Amino acid sequence: MQTAKMAVSLSLLLGINHDMMNTQYLDQISDLLDQMTLSEKIGQLSQFQTPYGQIPENFKQQLQNGDVGSVLNEADLDTITEMQRIAVEESRLGIPLLFGRDVIHGFKTVFPIPLGQAATWSETLVEQAARVSAIEARSSGINWTFSPMIDISRDPRWGRIAESFGEDHWLTSKLGNAMVDGYQTDNLKNHDAIAACAKHFVGYGAAESGRDYNSVNICENELRNVYLTPFKSACDNKAASMMAAFNDLNGVPASGNEWLMQDVLRTEWGYDGVMLSDWDSIRQLSIHGFTENDKASALAGINAGIDMEMVSTTYADHIEQLLSEGKIKTSQIDTMVKRILLLKFKMGLFDAPYTASEKFPELVNDQHRQIAKEVARNSCVLLQNKHNVLPLAKDDLSSVALIGPLADDGYEQLGTWIFDGDEQHSVTCLQALKAYLGNDVALNFAKGLATSRTTDDSGFNEAITAVKQSDVAVLVLGEESILSGEAHCRTNLDLPGAQHALIRAIKATGTPIVLVVMAGRPLTLTPIMDDVDAILYAWHPGTMGGEAIKELIFGEYSPTGKLPVSFPRNVGQIPIYYNQKHTGKPVTDDNWAFIDDIPVRAEQTSMGMNSAHIDCHFTPLFPFGFGLTYGELSYQNLQVKTPSITPEGALIVDVELVNDSQRDIIETAQLYIRDLHASVTRPVRELKAFKRVEIKANSRQPITFILQASELSFYNQRMQKVLEPGLFHCWIGGDSQASLQGEFRVI
Ligand code: NOJ
Repeated sequence: MQTAKMAVSLSLLLGINHDMMNTQYLDQISDLLDQMTLSEKIGQLSQFQTPYGQIPENFKQQLQNGDVGSVLNEADLDTITEMQRIAVEESRLGIPLLFGRDVIHGFKTVFPIPLGQAATWSETLVEQAARVSAIEARSSGINWTFSPMIDISRDPRWGRIAESFGEDHWLTSKLGNAMVDGYQTDNLKNHDAIAACAKHFVGYGAAESGRDYNSVNICENELRNVYLTPFKSACDNKAASMMAAFNDLNGVPASGNEWLMQDVLRTEWGYDGVMLSDWDSIRQLSIHGFTENDKASALAGINAGIDMEMVSTTYADHIEQLLSEGKIKTSQIDTMVKRILLLKFKMGLFDAPYTASEKFPELVNDQHRQIAKEVARNSCVLLQNKHNVLPLAKDDLSSVALIGPLADDGYEQLGTWIFDGDEQHSVTCLQALKAYLGNDVALNFAKGLATSRTTDDSGFNEAITAVKQSDVAVLVLGEESILSGEAHCRTNLDLPGAQHALIRAIKATGTPIVLVVMAGRPLTLTPIMDDVDAILYAWHPGTMGGEAIKELIFGEYSPTGKLPVSFPRNVGQIPIYYNQKHTGKPVTDDNWAFIDDIPVRAEQTSMGMNSAHIDCHFTPLFPFGFGLTYGELSYQNLQVKTPSITPEGALIVDVELVNDSQRDIIETAQLYIRDLHASVTRPVRELKAFKRVEIKANSRQPITFILQASELSFYNQRMQKVLEPGLFHCWIGGDSQASLQGEFRVI
């Protein structure tokens, strides 16, 4: 009885659901807390970075004193084990450490960048990749990853779009949860599970002008309907931790935002996981001009409910004084410490603090490489295929030219955030093609350009000679990995350097061109579309990229990737995303006038105007959801089986997928809806479901989508989640511009 009472009151204090906590932990947490000194409590709230592979004498002392809750960026197992030993065996209370690291898209085996993984539209593959990442990271002692990044990213200028799942909150929620599941497994105590960290809370992807760390302004309705939803899903899916964002949101830096973290996250959602600051982001509150000094920053971070401070030491330096001045209460500190201890208990670290290295498979083993290849293969998106130049047939070729700075660069194909990735494990396009073509087909390789950004064209002649000796030219161009990622934002998204000039020089030979693009973001491909025959967008595909690309261009598999983000025609269109609002003056092909059609000195009028640019078509170059394959697919006979549904009911829509080709195909069928009239304006389309379907050559396949009416609800003007009656449209097809339409009514 006594224990149950304590459990309830501690749950209330933590703002968590009583059922979620094991009473055994509550007793242990209370016991520990009772024994902890203030400095030991402050230690739990602090995360430190140390020189790699070393334990400096002063840090050893800190560990012995119990002044450390977590260490970041150490990945040397011996060092981690020794640090853990000191914490567990030599500190007074023996509280184990959390070892955090950015394991973003793989550890030693590197998977495609998250934006590429999103192009698989496969929760299964994303979960498998995260599982491998967790196994490899945990075998090196890491028990906490700062992933998944679930920031909605509608701006390809922003370098960190590479780390995201793209522009759609629904897809991001699904894939974010899949990644969390892959890291955490069904029990954080499993020897190969690691804790996830959903980041960055919130709005970071909407930085003005796509410039990293820039201010963000998003009204509450849009926050709730879009930006917060993947975090709510992560909360419901029990992601162990979250990370606060660097940006200020509507004038309040996220790392000091009480409304966001206390009112919404803790009180409304009941999140009981650990909230971590970003690197130095609490100290930066004063740099934002939000606080006067570090002490005030610590106060703001604590009041906002950030449990652990990454790297900066405003908590360690000022908590004692803040307490003695009565500016914060001991109960606030206790709540923060309890959340951290709770995570450590849930992870079983008190019982098993060390990595059981004998239980782990080898790093980068064959199985991990196979999964990396499969994810990479499914992440590539075929954007263009004039005259069906792809797939290439080995038997029909006597020679292939392979050109480009990224064709044989095992490092650059790995992409951003690969602290532990190692180019020596990479299979490049050159290696894969050499092995595949053997002595049967000549392979003429020339880089053409030393790097993706150089303007030195002295390698062109060699490339042109190689192409002239070949039946087809495969160009591997794009962006080096350091041109995307944190703080690597661009205003010009064309192929950098002299790459377009190289394409033009090769085009002049008349040889068919297959362009493979490796990049961390959507590039503006408009200038090169006419100069190349096929475009396969491979993102940064990771360790097995070359092998996966070879399998696709030679038709061993048909491409299955679909864009998780719209590709703009030019930078001026940004932000352009499929789920925008209708506006009061929507543009259509019938009412849009191109600049050349506007007479000189035409009279200014408000009549017949629309929401569009006059110097660029209003659609993106490639829409969200788009991706070609080898063979002809079409959708037919859409039938809404439930023309009116009640709030408790479900929408059922049938469609037929038709494969008129000689190949078996995997297609991602997508269901979009539009709520035509609502108390707040709703997007022109919203993705509500998708299915990866395997369809045999020359066959028809029925597909049924079932959508619960509750999935149609949204936040209204009063920020209540509601389902409003009225007319809806729905579409099913292979991308967000699907034309097969039906309608239904919520009654
Ligand atoms: C800053 C980044 O914003 C965050 O995503 C990352 O996890 C931390 N640094 C730690 O490296």
